[in-house]
Amino acid sequence: MNSLLLHCRPGFEGEVCAEIGEHAGRLNVAGYARARPNSAHAEFVCSEPGGAERLMRGLRFAGLIFPRQWARGDFVELPESERIGVLLERLADYPVCGSLWLEVLDTNEGKELSTFCRKFEVPLRKALLKAGRLEDDPRKPRLLLTFKSGREVFLGLAEANNSAAWPMGIPRLKFPRAAPSRSTLKLEEAWHQFIPREAWDLRLAPGMTAVDLGAAPGGWTWQLVNRHIKVTAVDNGPMAPSLMDSGLVEHVRSDGFVFRPRRPAGRLDGLRHRREACPHGGADRNLARRGALPRGGGQPQAADEAALRRSAPPARAHRRWPGGAWREGLHRLPAALPRSRGSDLPSAPAVGPGVTRPTASATMPPPVFWS
Ligand SMILES: C[S@@+](CC[C@H](N)C(=O)[O-])C[C@H]1O[C@@H](n2cnc3c(N)ncnc32)[C@H](O)[C@@H]1O
Repeated sequence: MNSLLLHCRPGFEGEVCAEIGEHAGRLNVAGYARARPNSAHAEFVCSEPGGAERLMRGLRFAGLIFPRQWARGDFVELPESERIGVLLERLADYPVCGSLWLEVLDTNEGKELSTFCRKFEVPLRKALLKAGRLEDDPRKPRLLLTFKSGREVFLGLAEANNSAAWPMGIPRLKFPRAAPSRSTLKLEEAWHQFIPREAWDLRLAPGMTAVDLGAAPGGWTWQLVNRHIKVTAVDNGPMAPSLMDSGLVEHVRSDGFVFRPRRPAGRLDGLRHRREACPHGGADRNLARRGALPRGGGQPQAADEAALRRSAPPARAHRRWPGGAWREGLHRLPAALPRSRGSDLPSAPAVGPGVTRPTASATMPPPVFWS
């Protein structure tokens, strides 16, 4: 079990080899990376026993850039029939696994194999359960079978909390029919990627405010509105009327690169969140000391707004990422946000009338979305 298989988008095999090679060097795992162009996968072949496992344990999968999925194991040749028997034999060297995923590579041949995989999974799962090789336990490693053909499979292992959250690392998100553009799924995917699912209600909470720069026709804005977030949509193009009817969207026809929010809403949200997050009034005491709140607690008055702004953290997103520098900001996002890949990701709950506003994080920066 001394190879690390890494799935990727076809055409990025070289990048995967370079990336994993660099990590292996840093972690002193001897071996070499190899790949064929457009094969949608690369392999890191370790030259010492346990190397692949050491490499995986030394890395956070979510921190990798190009690999979509990974697993340590070996390729196994399969016969025309009795494939399950051969697999069971090989699995004798593997630990008991906690889940099973059958995967293919993201190539045309892979797509043709997916029907085979769907059919094969049922008897294989039954056989594994019967043989005691599979239990329903997320703490145990996941068994990942990557079929290259009906006759060749990579028999791999990966920790469920340190590997892709979706089979083949490709999110399968349902397009919401009411959304005005397909790009809506990009934002939902980013949330799955960067925000742990259990933190969504806190960090994407109803009543928050957001700015969507380059918003038209409103696919990203739709996602925010769907979570009852108020959006300033900046674009000279038209927004979908349905979004404007929600009452949650202010359409600003302006250049996103020079746009400045009239009211630093993020600062006030930040303050409110800190107050809610501090049940014993410590935050309020600090704010009152700085003149932002009436002494003895209570809601800030309109006249206190200037003091609230003074005491709140600066909303610096625009200033930090002027002009083309927003790209740099996007690159920094993965490092700045907690990861969610590898966690179980149930689909987003519908936001409806019954939704209550949860307490929000004390350190949340104001969200600014560039689409
Ligand atoms: C790909 S579309 C965005 C799609 C949108 N995010 C959605 O989800 O429906 C790009 C948008 O950016 C807008 N845009 C381009 N440059 C802009 C700028 N400097 N300021 C504001 N909007 C801009 C365009 O008018 C266009 O509507």
